[in-house]
Amino acid sequence: MNARRIALRAPAKLNLTLALFGRRPDGYHELDSVFMALELADRLEAELSGDELRLVVRGPAAAGVPSDGSNLVLRAARAVRALAASRGLAAGGIELVLEKHVPAEAGLGGGSSDAAAAALACARLYGLDPDDAELAATLAELGSDCAFFLAARATGLARCSGRGEQVAPLPALTLPGALVLLTPAFGCATSRVYAALGPERAGRSPWPFEGGAPASLAALRCVLFNDLELAAERSHPELADFRQWLQRLAPGTFRLAGSGSSCFGLCADEAEGRALLARLALDDRGRRYAFRGQWVLPVRSRGLGPA
Ligand code: C5P
Repeated sequence: MNARRIALRAPAKLNLTLALFGRRPDGYHELDSVFMALELADRLEAELSGDELRLVVRGPAAAGVPSDGSNLVLRAARAVRALAASRGLAAGGIELVLEKHVPAEAGLGGGSSDAAAAALACARLYGLDPDDAELAATLAELGSDCAFFLAARATGLARCSGRGEQVAPLPALTLPGALVLLTPAFGCATSRVYAALGPERAGRSPWPFEGGAPASLAALRCVLFNDLELAAERSHPELADFRQWLQRLAPGTFRLAGSGSSCFGLCADEAEGRALLARLALDDRGRRYAFRGQWVLPVRSRGLGPA
């Protein structure tokens, strides 16, 4: 018998590497990128109840997140319900409660991850196979990053191509060290960042590791790159200002997460990560950025899964 209630963690992601190619006729860009799901996560609860699909959004990062039909969670739930019904399954109402911790417009894939969690939860409640090819295709329609969260849930690490929806899972990544993640008050709009993309490219291999994993934190640090960095700065001058400030206080440490505005850096251990945050907080300009979040996380990929 199927469960009646499911709770999932819907992780944030960042792109360890992000190589971009040309703009396609459909307006999207071809990419080749290693996505890593993080320990930082939203929480989604889903329970079979009544006839309707309903969504409540709460939590520390809930401000400004819609709970109406425009939320990707409800759009994913509706799509899965229709798919289940088309397979002759009894697809009743579901009550969804989304607890937001991952900031929006931050380059962390929060909305896409929530949609993937909703798709997985609804599929399980309705008795649909979560690895159904039609489910994956439906989810990819909702956002370029959605497919990653579902297809790479076992390890939280994958090399993605196409517009992001072609997902080749990689073994889980775990290294000694700490990942410092910062999200300033301002956000970056992904479509504006892509629209500002010029010809500049790092021209580097997205994952040069034989056997799938870097042997050390130093090896991982050497391969990080993100072809969206300059476009994000051009389209969002406040980001250029923010990144210049980070570069002055911690030279060579921070990269842009996805299309921004979050930035991340790798430190030798948690104590070094905390010391770095303390140094940023003491600086006069640091206080101006009114961070939406500052985290010191393990260097460990962790996919969508039970909460
Ligand atoms: O798919 P998603 O809705 O997340 O994409 C947001 C915007 O980012 C798209 O409208 C497009 O402008 C841009 N994008 C792109 N190429 C990709 C992914 C996103 O141009 N591979």
